[in-house]
Formats: sequence, structure tokens, C-alpha cells
Amino acid sequence: MCGIVGYVGEKQALPVLLSGLKRLEYRGYDSAGVALVTDDGLRITKQVGKIKVLEQALDGHKIDCRHGIAHTRWATHGEPNQVNAHPHYDTAAEIALVHNGIVENYRTLKEFLSQKGFVFRSDTDTEVLTHLIRFNYKGDLTEAVRDALSQVEGTYGIAVVSSLHPNEVIAARMGSPLVIGHGDDENFVASDVSAMLEYTNRVVYLEDGEIATVTNSEYTITTIQNVEITPRISEISWSLDMIEKSGYDHFMLKEIHEQPTTLRNAMRGRINYEEGISRLNGLNLQYDELRRIKRIIISACGTSWHAGLIGEYLIEEVARVPVEIEYASEFRYRSPIFDDSSVFFAISQSGETADTLAAMREAKKHGVTSLGIVNVVGSTIARESNGGVYIHAGPEIGVASTKAFTSQVTLLALIGTLLGRMRHLSVQQGQELLGALQEIPGQIEQILAREDVVKEIAGEYCNNDNFLYLGRGINFPVALEGALKLKEISYIHAEGYPAAEMKHGPIALIDENMPVVVIAMKDPVYDKVMSNIAEVRARNGRVIAIATEGDTEIAERVNHVIYLPETHRLLTPLLSVIPLQLLAYHIAVMRGCHVDQPRNLAKSVTVE
Ligand code: AGP
Repeated sequence: MCGIVGYVGEKQALPVLLSGLKRLEYRGYDSAGVALVTDDGLRITKQVGKIKVLEQALDGHKIDCRHGIAHTRWATHGEPNQVNAHPHYDTAAEIALVHNGIVENYRTLKEFLSQKGFVFRSDTDTEVLTHLIRFNYKGDLTEAVRDALSQVEGTYGIAVVSSLHPNEVIAARMGSPLVIGHGDDENFVASDVSAMLEYTNRVVYLEDGEIATVTNSEYTITTIQNVEITPRISEISWSLDMIEKSGYDHFMLKEIHEQPTTLRNAMRGRINYEEGISRLNGLNLQYDELRRIKRIIISACGTSWHAGLIGEYLIEEVARVPVEIEYASEFRYRSPIFDDSSVFFAISQSGETADTLAAMREAKKHGVTSLGIVNVVGSTIARESNGGVYIHAGPEIGVASTKAFTSQVTLLALIGTLLGRMRHLSVQQGQELLGALQEIPGQIEQILAREDVVKEIAGEYCNNDNFLYLGRGINFPVALEGALKLKEISYIHAEGYPAAEMKHGPIALIDENMPVVVIAMKDPVYDKVMSNIAEVRARNGRVIAIATEGDTEIAERVNHVIYLPETHRLLTPLLSVIPLQLLAYHIAVMRGCHVDQPRNLAKSVTVE
């Protein structure tokens, strides 16, 4: 996913654009560029690498300009290089454009435009849009954009400027988020509110198929069919310090340590302990509708999918309702079977993941009630769902998801309790689960206080090239999540496996060079996990165990133990994931990796 910033107003545009880009750098960062509208025409600068490379290229250049656009790229078509970086511009360098998304029919359009004499510089799909706008330009930039986009298939969030229109930024959205920032004698366009939070907290979210003409004093929104839309201003509750590091070395570490607070926020106002029941009015479902649910489909990607898998174990056990967890990218193309007693949940931190959004749209097409478990307020999945719950984790900047994961699992536990209490779960059972849930934030604080234990272990294994993560039952998804954390920020190959499955293949990998992280909490499958640990040790494998405080037996069987407080069996993932987040973080730092912006990754994948 790329970062887009646009500005038109009274300030010097360049500092506004660059500060906005830096807030978005976590979204994609293989190249960056700006297009400034000056009295002498368009001034376009773009560089490979991070934003600081662009800043160095611009350093010392006094550019008097109050109007421009900027972009930080996560490459889809065309390798990360200077020519492929955005902004792209027309032959006369009078129209410039930045884009987030994929033009599916760019080859056809490129061929058509080439036959019309347009010359292409880059290997990107985006450049087609610039020449297509030029081809349709007859003096009105908005209409040229409208006509061009009516020929485009695919997804886009774009911002367009032109030296021929010295006070306009044209913004348009189809599948990639775009938001207008409402200022005083200035207005902003961005792909994410964090880019403009420094200047305004009043925003207007563009919907798919809408085009905005933004000037310093106003903005008008129309559909691509030229139907006028009344802008609806929302107020963002996030504060600036929520998108700063606040003294931590990395956003990821800050967000790991925020989890006691974010979980309290996730639960706030949602637990009726006396009745042993959770309160989730956002689901927009009455009790009789909740009782009629006979099947739950959960769809997500990555870490959110791991949370969904925990949801499957938890909700099936607590509510006795069948749950299927589906990779969104698979679900949307699999011709899934629906029935009218199904409910669909999309889990997404960003609320913009293309595959998850598409999966939810597929479910909605079949008339299935579709609910969101989302972090970003006003995101597309949140707005298009029939209801849902915000996880209230605050902005998650680190590309590796941490606090969102534990908040997602918390909401799934609340959903399971609500559904369970509609069925057979007693008040006492509900109170047992909810009471334990309310203890979790304090228990995470205890675990975080012992971060040095994890850091020491990280020091011993930071040079290994492979890791195996094992877990059983509700902690099997945590093994998957721990492996994902490690691989995505340290680039070490790590696999998560059901512990018993190790015997069916992965055990061939075990030797003294393959550290094995095993989640071995005191639960009904503990003895089985201990057998798996013995199988690893018998082949000289080195074992790092995540265990329950007071379990002295395990300490004699493994190389390292990280102890966790005891909690309700179904809530252990909320604790067992914490040391795995810390282990991945410290190993990545020791390997000199860019923890918050790992190579090849982006915070939210808004393309297929
Ligand atoms: C998690 O650490 C990854 N960054 C990635 O797997 C992420 O969870 C996935 O892309 C889903 O994102 P979403 O929750 O915003 O939909």
C-alpha cells in the first residue's frame, strides 16, 4: 500500500507534504516523490529509498509553493527505481499524479495511448493514468480525471495536480482509501488520517467511485457519474502523540508495551460481570438474531487470520457454534457455500486489506450478515459492514501487528461469551471467563516487566537461520503468529506447526541448529506437548519453552523457560503471544533489521 499526501492552502507546501509522508512511511517505502505547483510550472522530484533520501535531494532548494502532492511507494508493477517512483507526469510535464492501487487494464490502455503518440517512461501501470488524463483534458482537470477513470478497471486512490490549475488537487477513490482533511484556508488529501493529524482532525472520507475537487477554500465531491455528494465531516479522536514513538526505539516496541492499556480499552464498557455477559451493541444484532446463528465464517489475512483461528477454538468451545476460519484471498475465489443462518466476520486492523474487503463483499452479495472486527475507525471494511466492533487499539504504526492481535482476540472472547450466554453458558461460567479477561492486562504488565529474560534468549539465537514454533489446541495459532512475527521483521525462516504434526515431517529438520519454541502451558494437552519436547530434545534440538509459572518440571526438560501467569485456559494466547512478540523484536534489532519498516512489506495490503 502506498502513501499519498496532497496540500493546497496558505502554508509552504513542501514541509507539509514531507511531514505527511513521514507519517505514512510505514505504509510503503521503496521510493518517494513530490510534485510542487510553482509559478514556473510543475517541480517534480523523486528518489529511490526512504523519504530521507528525497529530503536530501530537496535540501537547500528554496521552492516557493503552496500546492502539491507527494507519494511514498510500495511497488506493485515496475521495480523500485527512480523512473518508476511517483509522481508520474504527462509529456508536457503539466499534469502530475500519485496513485495507490492497481490498474488492471493498463496494458490495453497503454497500447491505445501509445498508438495516439504518447511516450511512456516507466514500467508502471500508474503512468497510464497520467497520459489518459492528458488525453481527455479539454480545459477542466476534474472532468479530464472523470473521463479517464471511466475507462479504468482496477483499484485506485489518486491525487492529481496541474500547473494549468494552480489551486486544485483532484482526488479520486476506487478501492484504495483516500480522505480529505478540512482546514482553515487550507485543505489536505491523504491515504491515511495520520498524514494530516498535525494540522486538522476534521476529515471527509471518500467512498469508492467518488471524485473530489479540492481548493484552499473548499472541496466539492461528485460520483464518477457526476452526481453531487454532500461531504460528511468526521472528527478523528486520535492525538498526535499516539502516532509518535514516545521514547521507544521503535513503534513496534511501543505497541507491544501498550497492550495492557489497549486491552483495557478493548474491554471498556463491554463487560456486564454481574450477568456474566458481554455487551456488543455495535453488532447491530438483537438477542433472538444472535440465538439464530448456526454457523460463523471468519475471514482475514496474516496476523488477523491467526486471531480468527483462536476465535474458532474459543467460540466453538464457549458457544458451541460451528466456526470456519478462511484466508480471505482463498475464500473470495472459492465459490463458498452460504446459508441464512450464517454470520460472516471480517477481521482487519487497517480495515482496508483488499482481500478481506473483497471476501466481505462476496458474503454480503449472498445476503449474509457481515460484521467487522476492525481497528481503524471509518475504514472501508468498518463502513461497508452491517455492523461490528472497533478494537480501540489506537493507531498501529509498526508493520508487524502486535497490539491489534491481542485486541482482536479479546473481542473474539467477548463475542464467544455473548453467544455462549445466549445458549448454554451459565452466569458463573461467563463470570469465570470475563473475570479472567479483566486480569489479563495486569498479567501482561508482569510479563513485560521480565522483558530482559526474553532479550537474553534473543541474544543466544539471533544468528540462527531457521526456527520452528510448536503449539497445541488454542495455542497452535499462537505458534503460527510467533513464527510470522519473527520471519517478517528479522527475515529468519520460521515455521509454526501443530506440535503433534512435527512427527509428520518437520522433525527431519531438528538438530542443534534448529531452535524450537514450544508453547507448553499447563492445560489438558500439556503432557502431549511434553512428549513433543522430548522428541525434539532426543534429536539435539534446543527448546525455548513458554510455560506456566510454578511448572518446575519443564525447566529440567528444556534449554530455556519463559514463565507466564496462570489464566483461563481459553485466554492463554493473550499471554503466550507476548514473549513471542518480544523475541521477534529483539532478534530483529540484534540483526540490524528495520523493525518498523521491514523490507518488501507494507502495513496494509490494499492490492490483491
Ligand atoms: C502482520 O504482522 C502483518 N503485517 C500482516 O500479516 C497483516 O496482519 C495482514 O496484512 C492483515 O492486515 P489487516 O489486519 O490490516 O487486514
